[in-house]
Amino acid sequence: MLDLQKTKLAVEQAYQQFSQIPGGANADYIPFLANIPGNLAAVAVVTTRGDVVSAGEAQYRFAIESISKVCTLALLLEDWGSEVVQEKIGAEATGMPFNSVMALDLHGGKPLSPLVNAGAIASTSLVKAHSVEERWQRILLMQRQMGSGQIALSAELNESEQSTNSHNRAIAWLLHSAGYMYCDPMEACDVYTRQCSTLLTTVELATMGATLASGGINPLTKERVLKPENTPRILAEMTMEGLYDSSGDWAYTVGLPGKSGVGGGILAVVPGVMGIAAFAPPLDKVGNSVRGQKMVAAVAKILGFNLYKGA
Ligand code: DON
Repeated sequence: MLDLQKTKLAVEQAYQQFSQIPGGANADYIPFLANIPGNLAAVAVVTTRGDVVSAGEAQYRFAIESISKVCTLALLLEDWGSEVVQEKIGAEATGMPFNSVMALDLHGGKPLSPLVNAGAIASTSLVKAHSVEERWQRILLMQRQMGSGQIALSAELNESEQSTNSHNRAIAWLLHSAGYMYCDPMEACDVYTRQCSTLLTTVELATMGATLASGGINPLTKERVLKPENTPRILAEMTMEGLYDSSGDWAYTVGLPGKSGVGGGILAVVPGVMGIAAFAPPLDKVGNSVRGQKMVAAVAKILGFNLYKGA
């Protein structure tokens, strides 16, 4: 059983050691993100028992960005089941950058993973909905159920993203031409852009991880959000593509399913035990938080968690 006192020390140590290490730069292709103070940092753990431990600016609200892809995948699995998701989106690593067009070209237009931009836009299009508003509200509800009811759209961030998302719009049309787009392509891109534009805290992000760690029950609200058979599929997709083209390095060094976003957030899941989240804006070249990766990895290492380690 996880020792709460040891967990507090691990979180504090990870924060002290890595929250201000040098390196990386804020994402600058979305103007809102370029302006976030680069020295903000937080790390948090939420356990499957509902314990919350954090250090740093753990209540600061930052952009969810690509971590939203996990919640939309969760909704998709609830709507359609795992075989449809595997057939229509995929369950493979692309080995390419998160917004790669080449990855689509190489695979007949199939996105391969719901956790890259192409697969996420296709996923958004596959969510069951009769209108753009219903599609958006269902995705937002899933973010809230997995994380917290406080998660909400930032109009300013959404405007910043919608006015700079031409590459994603091109991806939506490529998916359409290849037969992997399941609603109007511009509706899918609009809703995908909104899902990336919500703000959440590091504790809320760790809660999402804890929901996945507990087989689909949010340990803070006690609500069953996901069918238990769906969480292993989500964790497998996170292992394959959660940190994009450094997912292999992450699995090799940390050994836990993870997911990052260009807002500086990063999440790892210890199945059955906890979600570990961190936030720090400067990113490496792949698009993963430099300090966030270190803080999450340190908590896992200090507490002795690595899925490939055995007992
Ligand atoms: O679609 C985009 O480019 C952004 N809204 C999200 C990308 C992202 O977070 C990639 N993550 N590391």
